Amino acid sequence: METTGAVLRGAGDQYELVTLEVGDPGPGEVLVEMAYAGLCHSDEHLRHSNPGGRYPVVGGHEGSGVVLAVGPGVRRVAPGDHVVASFLPACGVCRWCASGRSNLCDLGATIATGQLPTGTWPFRLDGEPLGGFCMVGAFARHSLLSEASVIRLDPWVALDTAALMACSVPTGWGSAVYAGGTRPGDTVVVVGCGGVGVNAVQGAVHAGASHVIAVDPVAFRRDFARSVGATHAVEDTGAAAALARELTRGNGADVVVLAVGATDADTTRAAARCLGKGATLVLTALADIGSDVTVALQGNGLTVFEHRVQGALFGSCNAHRDVPMLLRLAAEGKLELDRLVTRRYSLDQLTQGFADQAAGETIRGLLVHAD
Ligand SMILES: NC(=O)c1ccc[n+]([C@@H]2O[C@H](COP(=O)([O-])OP(=O)(O)OC[C@H]3O[C@@H](n4cnc5c(N)ncnc54)[C@H](O)[C@@H]3O)[C@@H](O)[C@H]2O)c1
Ligand SMILES: [Zn+2]
Ligand SMILES: [Zn+2]
Repeated sequence: METTGAVLRGAGDQYELVTLEVGDPGPGEVLVEMAYAGLCHSDEHLRHSNPGGRYPVVGGHEGSGVVLAVGPGVRRVAPGDHVVASFLPACGVCRWCASGRSNLCDLGATIATGQLPTGTWPFRLDGEPLGGFCMVGAFARHSLLSEASVIRLDPWVALDTAALMACSVPTGWGSAVYAGGTRPGDTVVVVGCGGVGVNAVQGAVHAGASHVIAVDPVAFRRDFARSVGATHAVEDTGAAAALARELTRGNGADVVVLAVGATDADTTRAAARCLGKGATLVLTALADIGSDVTVALQGNGLTVFEHRVQGALFGSCNAHRDVPMLLRLAAEGKLELDRLVTRRYSLDQLTQGFADQAAGETIRGLLVHAD
């Protein structure tokens, strides 16, 4: 079939709307009509460079939609099902899935190219095969996905905000709860309060933190972080480090989640200065390629204060456990989901949407394929 989608033809290019061909689903594959897609800063990283991947590529990795057709052998979903199109697949049987770390599923090996685990390229552009970002390609109206990349939703779940379950909400929430291991009474610093960081704030609150210090240079985002439970909000990590020490009789933060748009060595070092004894620095933010993210901690601090540095992919969440659980928390009024979506955009407004994100005017922009 033919569909419309936004592709990047090369590093640094803007999105271009094109007509794409999408094939019928083969074994283990699912044809999804995308309804919504979140605008994540990782899409901007892809626009700047695609290491291990290739251009052209169909953008978008935070999607929700409806299953139109399934290929032979597909058992997880059926036509008509509502799904989240997760940016990480979960096969269920690899070493990582089997040990409760499905965010590290072996099928994730090809998310940079977008080629499906079956070897299929989901799209063709002028006859040439191409992939979708993270094997999702949510900026296309229709996309071919692996069965491992979709999570079935209960039919009453609102599809628009459900798109954020594909990336930003679990990524932020889990960065504080799982990767950071926040415990009751802790002091948590969240550096960067966009779509990912504000969910780290929500996670820290749920885990029982006494103090949640939100850090962002943008006033709108600091205010938003307060509205979802941050107890303090400051403009930079220097102020956060001082405040964390003041609030803890000199110790500092127990957990620091780094969720800025693009990290580098300076940002990482500044975040590390918030750490107290026995604290964990969670690296959730990605760097633009070419940036150094060396965690340079002064002297023997890492050793004598037993600091931990913990990477976090998808907030160390297990999609099939955590997406339904987070949706239930939202339904119970315990997790803010609706207000995370600041503005809605059509496919031809994508560039504007990312400009608004860069200008600090949105928490999450949402691409609306069809309401
Ligand atoms: N590890 C993962 O699984 C994963 C998943 C999704 C996104 N990410 C990454 O998480 C990061 C955040 O994504 P997002 O969509 O929320 O981005 P965003 O652009 O919406 O938000 C980033 C925020 O950081 C703030 N900021 C920038 N520099 C800062 C600094 N020095 N100190 C404090 N705040 C600063 C910005 O004002 C903005 O509010 C990105 O790097 C993204 O690629 C990682
Ligand atoms: Zn993302
Ligand atoms: Zn797996």
